Amino acid sequence: MSRVNHDLRNSLASAMVVSDSLAQSEDPQVQKVTPRLMAAIDRAVNLCSQTLDYARSREPELHPERFDLRTLVSDVLDFVTPPPDAEIRWDIGIDPGFVVVADKNQMFRVLLNLAGNAAAAMPEGGTLRFRAERGGGWVSIDIADEGTGIPPKAQETLFEPFMPGSGKGTGLGLAIAKELMRAHGGDIKLMETSDRGTRFRLRLPDRG
Ligand SMILES: Nc1ncnc2c1ncn2[C@@H]1O[C@H](COP(=O)(O)OP(=O)(O)O)[C@@H](O)[C@H]1O
Ligand SMILES: [Mg+2]
Repeated sequence: MSRVNHDLRNSLASAMVVSDSLAQSEDPQVQKVTPRLMAAIDRAVNLCSQTLDYARSREPELHPERFDLRTLVSDVLDFVTPPPDAEIRWDIGIDPGFVVVADKNQMFRVLLNLAGNAAAAMPEGGTLRFRAERGGGWVSIDIADEGTGIPPKAQETLFEPFMPGSGKGTGLGLAIAKELMRAHGGDIKLMETSDRGTRFRLRLPDRG
């Protein structure tokens, strides 16, 4: 997988160089199509790195550590890019000092994807809520948005790789999230979704 990825990236890099010089052309026809060509190559490069990410997530080497969940969530939110003109509010209903034992970097990836999806689903803005509780040997973390919801058809294949729905993504985010949660002995579930929003739940064995 990583060898194919490497070769593909090299070919794409050459394609990028060629289209860069194409962009210098005076021919209006060529000038018109070059940006699209560049964008297509960009997407292909992105797909490459995400595919590799997915392959890696299947056998992740976990490095569990104790960390403060609230701090991690607020770090994640610094990396979320809301849709243009959308005012997204964050509501982190997690007590300071809520400690979790897990691979912090991997949990960061899972939460970043969920928060990114949620933000993308709220083009008109809205609130993204985080909640966490422990009990019965589990920690559960809920992520709820006020977005457009997930259509029934897309729900069927939500956690399968390369099922991006209508978005511009690669459809790997939730597949990776599932692999990573499973690797922790936990899980991810879609709890509810409607035109008023969507809620996912992450579960981790409670080692706090
Ligand atoms: N919170 C959400 N609200 C609405 N749709 C969602 C939400 N989360 C995921 N989706 C849908 O599921 C698709 C797959 O998500 P994901 O696996 O993260 O891949 P990607 O983000 O690359 O498209 C998204 O493209 C989107 O259509
Ligand atoms: Mg995603």
